[in-house]
Amino acid sequence: MHSVLFHPDHRLWLLRGPTSAYAIRLAEDDSVRNVHWGAVLTLDQAVTLAERVSPAASSFEAVAGVDELAVEGGARFGPPSLVVRFADGTRGVQWRYEGHDVDGGHLRIHLRDRHYPLHVTLNYRVHGDSDVIERWTNIENRDDQAPVTVLRCDSAAWAAPHRTHYRMSHLVGGWNSEFQVRRTDVPVAETVLTSRRGMTSHHANPWLAVDDGTAGEDHGEVWSTALAWSGSWRITLHRDPVGRTTWTGGFGHEGLTWSLAPGEALETPVFAGLYTPDGFGAASRAWHGHVRGQVLSHPDETRPVLYNSWEATGFDVDEAGQMALAARAASLGVELFVMDDGWFGARSSERAGLGDWEPNPARFPSGLGPLAAEVRRLGMRFGIWVEPEMVNPDSDLYRAHPDWVLHMANRDRTEMRHQLVLNLARQDTAEWTHAWLDRLVADHDIDFLKWDANRPFTEAGWPGSGDPERLWIDQTRAVYRIMDRLRADHPGLRIEACSGGGGRADLGILARTDQVWVSDNTDPVDRIGIQHGFSQLYPAQVMSAWVTDSPNPATARLTPLRFRFHVAMAGVPGIGGDLTTWTEEELKESAELVAAYKRIRPVVQHGAQHRLRGDGTLTGVEYVRDDDHVVLAWCPTRAFGHAPAPLRLAAVRPEAVYRDLDTGATYPGAVLLQSGLPLCLPRGDHASTLVRLRRVH
Ligand code: DGJ
Repeated sequence: MHSVLFHPDHRLWLLRGPTSAYAIRLAEDDSVRNVHWGAVLTLDQAVTLAERVSPAASSFEAVAGVDELAVEGGARFGPPSLVVRFADGTRGVQWRYEGHDVDGGHLRIHLRDRHYPLHVTLNYRVHGDSDVIERWTNIENRDDQAPVTVLRCDSAAWAAPHRTHYRMSHLVGGWNSEFQVRRTDVPVAETVLTSRRGMTSHHANPWLAVDDGTAGEDHGEVWSTALAWSGSWRITLHRDPVGRTTWTGGFGHEGLTWSLAPGEALETPVFAGLYTPDGFGAASRAWHGHVRGQVLSHPDETRPVLYNSWEATGFDVDEAGQMALAARAASLGVELFVMDDGWFGARSSERAGLGDWEPNPARFPSGLGPLAAEVRRLGMRFGIWVEPEMVNPDSDLYRAHPDWVLHMANRDRTEMRHQLVLNLARQDTAEWTHAWLDRLVADHDIDFLKWDANRPFTEAGWPGSGDPERLWIDQTRAVYRIMDRLRADHPGLRIEACSGGGGRADLGILARTDQVWVSDNTDPVDRIGIQHGFSQLYPAQVMSAWVTDSPNPATARLTPLRFRFHVAMAGVPGIGGDLTTWTEEELKESAELVAAYKRIRPVVQHGAQHRLRGDGTLTGVEYVRDDDHVVLAWCPTRAFGHAPAPLRLAAVRPEAVYRDLDTGATYPGAVLLQSGLPLCLPRGDHASTLVRLRRVH
């Protein structure tokens, strides 16, 4: 079955996924218009839809139809996806179709401006086993003299079909409170989801789902989209008073312009879209499949249980202390030991040393070699924290190269966490950064980098550069290039993306990292909500979650060790507490829980995830892989006399029987679906449980 079909008479393309279809056509003026995004259609059925365009009701209405990449020009008054200004002052684009080609599931539609030699290609890519459509734009200035000013160049615009109501779901938050799901009616207005921070951000994540207000976890049509970009971004959602809801998204934010030099070409990041008829849960599972199938480099690998020193030591890092933590971590079954911030230069606090990437000689008199060797002797891999994009002004690097940071003439250099951002759009700075990372990884055969970035951009200038605002894009590209080069040269290297917790989680960074540090908030109660939001788009396999001390350093909440573990086990758990203070009993219980995780991890990391909701505060997740089901359920608090009702499971066959692998109890599938799994939850707050079920017949 071909996944891209073309109807030459009607100039219509149909992209087919296993359970969805996407149709577009060329209008009379050669603009590419959306025809259909939803359930499966044949080419002939799509043609009947293409003919249904109602003429404008008055001279005040916009051009009929929905553009796939709206430009300025003609009667278009919604948010444009592509805004350019030519050297003579003319704005906008008038399209001329130049042809198309199809390569497997990749459709390219070639367009150009009718007058100026500006060429644009709209890219669509589908993968046979998935309903996700990847879209992006190529733009090329083929003028050999004049530059083109680019004011906006989005990756794609998406449109939900006509419905009587529209609702949007998106992710908001802040430091320590990332990935909070918000569900709200789409106002009849232009709504902008954006980060102007130069980073993906904690405050908004580039994921957006639209439904008609009736979708739930397991029912209803959902149109969701995700942008693969780790710098500033913008998604503008437009609900017309009489028309449909559309949205356009891409890199950069409003007010930035840059120049496309004569002969220069530019490719945007991917803005992917997915239609699902079966609710938010099915949408998440399809996205998880996409991340594994198309985004991650090592999807089949099982992520190790790690230890991270940050919450135990803060900046107080030295060889003996790390070795003591490593010994305890190894005895618990930890497989990867990660030394966090504080190991280099004069970095004994957040005030100094960032940028001086040599081991601190007082803390590591013989360098990192002895610690790395000890960690390996203990049977673990060795990982280390880095923050390559940043510098403390109090550092040898900054004293030598004060011009290597983002800055503007006649403006203060705003410090955040006492640091500035290196300008990696500069080739010398980027080369230097790659060189020290390459040396560090090679010298110690580093297995894992925790790659952090602890502040947004301010005064993002580059005095002397002819096109300074371009760095908002080039900086992110440079980070990608450095990561890609390191990974190509060190195939065993794995990277955890971090930006003060979850400030840099997106499909762009996941193409060159293996997991994400989701939040600096390790309180398991808060974490349930954070993980719920994260799971809308990102799979458990990339969700790094630590078990830390109680009371929690961020919230002061006291929680049982078992509850902390059960929450972290929903992803890739690590231990981040001060193990030197844990009692023998706690260490023993931790070792048992790490072993329990290793038993369930193939199902958690490689299975399908179903979010579950019980009564009261009871929530859970169920992972399913072949015949195995793992249920993790959490009940942070409960009122007197209300033992939670059994938790209804998903993805269970009604006619089958399921056996609890730990107790031997058996349950008919129909009962698990209808009445639920009885949970053996301890009394009191912060109750949790882990159940392993196997389909027996
Ligand atoms: C922010 C990260 O999110 C933390 O886990 C830790 O690595 C600190 N930075 C270190 O400065």
